[in-house]
Amino acid sequence: MAWEEATLEHKHKWDEGLYTLRLDRTLDFESGQFVNLGVVIEGKRVKRAYSIGSAPGEKLEFFIVEVDNGALTPRVLAQPLGSKVLVNPRPAGFFTLKWVPDARDLWLVSSGTGLAPYISMLRTPEPWRRFERIIVLNGVRYAAQLGYGDELRGWAEQHPGRLVYVPVVSREPEAQGVVHGRVTTALEDGTLEKIVGRLPDPDEDHAMLCGNPAMLDDMQALLEQRGLMVNRRKKPGHITVERYW
Ligand SMILES: Cc1cc2nc3c(=O)[nH]c(=O)nc-3n(C[C@H](O)[C@H](O)[C@H](O)COP(=O)(O)OP(=O)(O)OC[C@H]3O[C@@H](n4cnc5c(N)ncnc54)[C@H](O)[C@@H]3O)c2cc1C
Ligand SMILES: NC(=O)c1ccc[n+]([C@@H]2O[C@H](COP(=O)([O-])OP(=O)(O)OC[C@H]3O[C@@H](n4cnc5c(N)ncnc54)[C@H](OP(=O)(O)O)[C@@H]3O)[C@@H](O)[C@H]2O)c1
Repeated sequence: MAWEEATLEHKHKWDEGLYTLRLDRTLDFESGQFVNLGVVIEGKRVKRAYSIGSAPGEKLEFFIVEVDNGALTPRVLAQPLGSKVLVNPRPAGFFTLKWVPDARDLWLVSSGTGLAPYISMLRTPEPWRRFERIIVLNGVRYAAQLGYGDELRGWAEQHPGRLVYVPVVSREPEAQGVVHGRVTTALEDGTLEKIVGRLPDPDEDHAMLCGNPAMLDDMQALLEQRGLMVNRRKKPGHITVERYW
């Protein structure tokens, strides 16, 4: 399918190098899927995958961090409102609730912008209908990088006892109101259990993991120690993973 041009119509800066971008374009997709965005650099189209943060039917929204010396992110994030971004209008990926077996609680674990697909899911009725409790972990370096915190806290208030938001900060010991360390250390040292009341259990839970591949590997290993297994189409399990690089 041909690439299409969309216009950048909204840009929110959360912190240096960390933005939400909104395009003037809607698409049919399932929450958790990604699309390829592109920009032309020195005559060549450079494309990268981005999870869609908006709900299906809403204008496309993306949560993007500037990767130091990256080919695309410094360019796309520097573009002013009104500029054109190339979009491949074919959403892709299986990191969606359709492939997640029923469970009591849903654990949504992310590092950095790996939070984006969960924001899209939580903006739809499906997770609220299917799971008793939803636990959202977002691990970042500095507290200012905790994007979508207000929206997450808003959902926790709207759905009492149904959503536990656990912001985790690794490089700012003085940050207030957050868990210090990594999402993995919070699981290992008992902090998560204290906050949530329990830890992921293969009989009752499903965990989705998204973001930094080192975090995914370490978290998957910790969950496997607890008896959870990777979810496969032919062999349903309890862990669904999306790697960003
Ligand atoms: C399915 C999927 C969904 C994705 N969704 C998002 C998203 O919603 N938001 C987002 O910001 N990124 C997302 N990414 C990552 C994105 O596709 C690019 O890899 C990233 O934006 C870097 O592009 P770049 O051209 O600037 O850097 P490049 O020049 O391609 O990369 C430089 C190197 O940086 C590393 N790298 C890539 N991404 C990151 C990162 N986020 N943090 C640290 N190091 C990184 C890799 O080792 C890479 O080789 C997603 C990737 C996949 C596969
Ligand atoms: N140019 C800019 O202005 C700017 C701004 C922000 C970010 N960036 C760049 O953007 C890129 C992405 O940065 P990011 O901070 O979003 O992503 P990140 O490096 O993946 O870090 C996000 C969180 O994941 C944690 N983490 C890393 N490895 C882990 C593991 N094995 N297990 C559990 N947790 C783990 C990190 O902890 P630790 O802190 O302990 O590693 C951090 O808390 C980097 O290249 C960064 O330099 C640039």
